[in-house]
Amino acid sequence: RMRSSPSSSAAMASSFALRRLHMRGKGGLCKCLQKGRCGSLHAVQAERLEQAQRSILISCYSRPTEKKFLKYLSRHGDVKKYFFYESYGVYAVVEFANRDGVASLLEEAVIPSVSNEALVPFKSRLLSLKNLSSVDSNHFKHFECVKIVTNKHSWGTVSTLQVVSLTETYQLTDENIRLRFLVCSLLQDIAAAYFPECTIKPFGSSVNGFGKLGCDLDMILDLDGISGGKPKSVLSLEFQLKRANSERAVTQSILSVIGECVDQFGPGCVGVQKILNARCPLLRFAHQPSGFQCDLTASNRVAIKSTELLYLYGELDPRVRSLVFTVRCWARTHGITSGIPGAWITNFSLTIMVLFFLQKRSPPIIPTLDHLAELAGSADKCVIEGNDCTFVIDISKIQLQSNTETLEHLLREFFEFYATFAFSKMSINIRKGKEQNKPEVAPLHIQNPFETSLNISKNVNATQLDRFVALCQESLWLLQQSGTNTPRVGNRSNTATPWGLATLLLPSQVAGVKSRKKRRREPASERIKGLLDSLKNNSQPKKS
Ligand code: CTP
Ligand code: MG
Repeated sequence: RMRSSPSSSAAMASSFALRRLHMRGKGGLCKCLQKGRCGSLHAVQAERLEQAQRSILISCYSRPTEKKFLKYLSRHGDVKKYFFYESYGVYAVVEFANRDGVASLLEEAVIPSVSNEALVPFKSRLLSLKNLSSVDSNHFKHFECVKIVTNKHSWGTVSTLQVVSLTETYQLTDENIRLRFLVCSLLQDIAAAYFPECTIKPFGSSVNGFGKLGCDLDMILDLDGISGGKPKSVLSLEFQLKRANSERAVTQSILSVIGECVDQFGPGCVGVQKILNARCPLLRFAHQPSGFQCDLTASNRVAIKSTELLYLYGELDPRVRSLVFTVRCWARTHGITSGIPGAWITNFSLTIMVLFFLQKRSPPIIPTLDHLAELAGSADKCVIEGNDCTFVIDISKIQLQSNTETLEHLLREFFEFYATFAFSKMSINIRKGKEQNKPEVAPLHIQNPFETSLNISKNVNATQLDRFVALCQESLWLLQQSGTNTPRVGNRSNTATPWGLATLLLPSQVAGVKSRKKRRREPASERIKGLLDSLKNNSQPKKS
């Protein structure tokens, strides 16, 4: 699926001044908000969570016609939005105008009788629909399935995509985001058996604006809403509460019971792992109907703040998202990042590295975190476990400097910056926007923006860092070379398409179909030569 880019990187660069002008959709709803792209993250989340509570997920056995499907649902309430997607079968996400529609539909749903097996009678908003179309098989599959892309897919043949359309092609769609919030909401129903006032909401790349189709679903169980009541009340809940040694122990016990419940009764949840001894205890499982790999944590409020911060930076200038996307794509293509935990650089670390680089431009493209903290009002004040997480939420208070560098230029500068960065001595620090002396020994040191004594890339070993630096050098060289070889066909040269970028994103064009092991043994010079040859020939990208 390829789309031509509506705007060149140069146009993108100059359009950043218009970032606060948001297009309005038909229903008066901000288009960006529909995509989760404007307002504070908090506001966007509140709307999405509420939407999700009025929604259901239906597995469609016998593919109903759209008309029949709608007619059937409308008997229960006004349907506000619906779409179908495919993931080991056809599913529909249906949003009712209010919760009564959901209640009415659930009222009608029956628990099926199965022979030879017994069922846990857990009623959830994940339903199966049978037989609706059997009467009318002529209209078999008349609806269109949106592409949800739930499994981890590779970047594939992105070589011909332009940098902007790369972001457009791989960023999360509205439907994908809706499904993510719906999965949170379905899990919240399970957790509510223990904590009726809890919320489960997404964080990380599902909502920070840098998520790629197929990324995992990070969720947090939020119990903060439960505390409250009148401050001067003489009544307290003492005898309903249990005590534990630490907040961590409480989190572990909460996640343990919820994990048990998800495992035993959670519809569609499989492979539940309780990873309770991690620094941040979590439950990991797959949600089959959506295809999402899920991580559920609790009391991880600092991660929510870092999600909000990344979201804010992404909102400030369109080049931020585009560059992060491109670099993440480049890193994945070359095995710098990986889907498996290990000594690799993570997407989160990589994103912070891009932000740091953008703070270091002259003039800077984005402000430092310290500056965002200075702009904060009293309502923005936030201290979590002694860590000051305060920064301004209102985007309109942030004044940007006028930097008009193109994306193509920025990408080249990014490679140059990290090809020569003094990793051995310096730490990357987005709070100050300046490198600092490393406080501890680690090949790569990136200060956690909020828990400032922590290194977010502690896991990275010297080999992985060396690979990253070598690839930055190689890519820089390639971009410089391909700059002189850029084909000037038609108006291609006017579109400011980073032609050289195409070569960088090829999943090793030289290696082609060769195995990974073999590919690694090939000297870099050989690979570059091959890439350049293929560029000169202006051949179609080979299928990977
Ligand atoms: N996080 C953090 N400190 C870390 C690692 C993660 O604060 N050392 C927070 C970040 O807000 C991050 C979120 O946890 O965005 C989720 O982590 P992870 O899933 O590793 O990263 P994502 O940003 O979601 O990227 P990906 O698409 O690779 O999942
Ligand atoms: Mg994630």
